[in-house]
Amino acid sequence: MDKSIGATPKSNGSTSTKTFENRELVLVSNREPYVHEYDDGEIQVVKPEGGLTSALDPMMASTGGTWVAWGSGDADDEASDGNGCVRVPPESQSYELKRVFLTDEQVTNYYYGYSNKVLWPLCHSDTAKMETSAQFWRHYRETNRQFAEAIREQGDPSNAVIWFQDYHFALAPRYVREASPDAFCMQFWHIPWPSWDVFQSCPQYEELLDGLLANDLLGFHLDQYCQNFLDCVSHALDAEVDRENGRIRYDGRTIRVAAFPLSIDAEERTALARSAEADEQWDSLRESYPLPEDGQLVVGVDRLDYTKGIEQRLDALEHLWEWYPEHREQLTYVQKASESRSRIEEYQQVQTNVKQKIARINDRFGTEDWQPIVYVDDYLPLSALAALYREADVCLVSSLRDGMNLVAKEYVASQVDEPGVLVLSELVGAHEELGESALTVHPNDTEAFAATIQRALAMEPSERSSRMATMRRQVEANDIDAWKRNVLRQANEILEREDEAATA
Ligand code: G6P
Repeated sequence: MDKSIGATPKSNGSTSTKTFENRELVLVSNREPYVHEYDDGEIQVVKPEGGLTSALDPMMASTGGTWVAWGSGDADDEASDGNGCVRVPPESQSYELKRVFLTDEQVTNYYYGYSNKVLWPLCHSDTAKMETSAQFWRHYRETNRQFAEAIREQGDPSNAVIWFQDYHFALAPRYVREASPDAFCMQFWHIPWPSWDVFQSCPQYEELLDGLLANDLLGFHLDQYCQNFLDCVSHALDAEVDRENGRIRYDGRTIRVAAFPLSIDAEERTALARSAEADEQWDSLRESYPLPEDGQLVVGVDRLDYTKGIEQRLDALEHLWEWYPEHREQLTYVQKASESRSRIEEYQQVQTNVKQKIARINDRFGTEDWQPIVYVDDYLPLSALAALYREADVCLVSSLRDGMNLVAKEYVASQVDEPGVLVLSELVGAHEELGESALTVHPNDTEAFAATIQRALAMEPSERSSRMATMRRQVEANDIDAWKRNVLRQANEILEREDEAATA
C-alpha cells in the first residue's frame, strides 16, 4: 500500500515536491475515530459522532497513513493486533489506527487532570476553574512521552508528517524531535489560545510553549489566537518573534504559526438534511418528544460544558417567555445535550444546573398542551440531528468562549428548507466568519439576548433568506476540505523550503 501523502496539493500548483510525497501522514489525537466495545459479549465498532474525530476521519480515509489515539473502548485491545493496530474504516480499511492503552491512573491524571482541569479552563480563560497538581503534570508528561514512543514504533518519524491534534499533546512534539531531529511535526490547537496574562497563571507555561515549538507548523482557528500565542512566546522564552509573518526563531529552528478556521463537511450535512432518512428521523423525533405541531422551533446543540453558556441561554429564554408572553405556547426550545467529562465536578454541576433550570422554566410556563423546553440527552444519529437543524426556525449558540463552534456551521449547512436564523455569541471563533449575517448576542446580557431571539423569531422571510444565503456560501466555500488543503499546502511549503535549504 502506498502510504505517502500523494494527494497533497502542490504549493506552486504544478510540480511535485519529493519530500512531501515520500512521507507518511501520522495523525495523533486523544480520541479515536473508531471504538471497539463489547455488546452482549459481541464486539461492536462504534463511530463517535461529531467533533474532531468525525471531521478528520474522511480526510484520513482518502489520504491513508496512521492515526495514533487512546484506545478507550473495552474491546479495543482484543480487536487490535499485537501492536495495538487495526485497519479502519471497517467498511473500506484505508488507514491504520494505532491505539495507545492508558491505565486508570493515566486517564485520571492526564485526561481528566492536566488536559481538562488545567489546559481546558486555562485556554478558555476561566482560570478560577483550574486545579493544578504535581500528579496531573507528571502523568501529562509521561503520557505525551508514551504517545511519542507509539509514533516511533510505527516507523521512522524522519520519513513522516506527524500531525498532532489539540491540547492533549503540548509536549509530544518535543519528545518526538528529541529522538528524531528531522521529523516534520505540526499541530492544530482546536481550542482558543488565551492572552499572556491568563496563560501565565499556569505554572508550566514555559515547558508547554517549549513543547509546542518543537513543531514546524502550529495552527489555530483565528488570527487572534495566533497573536496571543506569539505574545506568550515573546514574554516567556528567549525567542525571536515575527508577529506580522507568524514566524518564530527558537532553539535554532523556525516555527510557522498560522490561522486555519476549522469547518465541516458542508456537502454531506446538506445532503443529510435533504435525505429521506432525515424525514423519517423527524417523524420519529416527533413521536418520541413533545415537539410542536405548529408554532416556532428553536434549537441548541451542545456538549454539557461550562464554556457553552447553556445556562445563560436558558435565562434569556426565560426572560423572553416572561416579557414577550406572545411566545408562550408558540415557541418550543429543544436542547440537545451530550454528557461530557462527567467525572469532573464542574461538569456535574453544569448537568445539574441545566436540568434544574429547565424543570423550573417548564414548571413556570408549561401548560397541559405545551412543554416550553424539550431536553434531549439520548444519542441522536446524524440524520436526526440534520432534521432537527433543518426544522428549527432559530439556532442558539451562546458559548462564553469557544475556539470555533461547529454547531453554528452545521446549522447553516442544514438549512435546506425555509431558512432559519442563527443567533451567535460574539465570543465564539465562528463569529469571525458568520457574525455579519447571524444575529449577534453577548451571552451574559440576558435582556438583550432575549430581545435578539425575539428579533430572530419576527424576522421577515426575505431577510432570513438573504442572511442564510450569505452564510451558506461562506460555509460551503470554506469547508473541511478547504481547511485540510490549506494546512497541508502550508506544511508543503515549509518542507519545500527545508528541502531547498538542505540542497543549497
Ligand atoms: C473539544 C476538544 C476535542 C475533544 C472534544 C470532546 O472539541 O477540542 O479535542 O475531543 O471537545 O471532548 P472529550 O473530552 O470527550 O474528548
